[in-house]
Amino acid sequence: MTNASGVEEQTLTLPSEQEVEKLRAAEATWSLSFTLNGESVELMVDPTETLYDTLRERLRLIGTKGACLEGECGSCTVLLDGKPVTACLVTSPQVQGRTVVTVEGLAKDDRLHPVQESFIACGAVQCGYCTPGLIVSAAALLAHNSTPSVEEVREALEGNLCRCTGYTKIIDAVLEAAGDEPAVMSVGGEK
Ligand code: FES
Ligand code: FES
Repeated sequence: MTNASGVEEQTLTLPSEQEVEKLRAAEATWSLSFTLNGESVELMVDPTETLYDTLRERLRLIGTKGACLEGECGSCTVLLDGKPVTACLVTSPQVQGRTVVTVEGLAKDDRLHPVQESFIACGAVQCGYCTPGLIVSAAALLAHNSTPSVEEVREALEGNLCRCTGYTKIIDAVLEAAGDEPAVMSVGGEK
């Protein structure tokens, strides 16, 4: 079809969901097994894909967010063997045989993790894009330090950027969760 200026217009046809699935399956040549949120998981992945893509695109765990995909913002933070990592910089084969916890795995027995509860109670969420990464980093801190100082909270969250809140309510929320004794609980997979 030509437009009003006589230039041939090209129509962009997006692949269907089935076509995307087929492409993904064709690229998936690596057999990956690891523990995810307390469950054993086995699946085929592309050996070059990131843990971020495996979690969101293959396993549909979309709690983990991605803003920069360059390791700069912390929105994709998950726990690998109990330590916070940016899932956009970890390739999926690197988690072979290891333990990953995402924000979905922090709630236990239908009860939110105390950090999740205190983020809500303190109004520490605005657009929410940074929130899963912040909560994962904060949960990792409290799993090892039940009485962090403001400085220690700041340090633990320095890799997690938030454009909305100004951080005050986020820090308040972490300190409040720290005051809640059950908050000092295992986040799973610590080594
Ligand atoms: S999306 Fe991974 S650090 Fe920003
Ligand atoms: S709440 Fe919007 S980026 Fe943090």
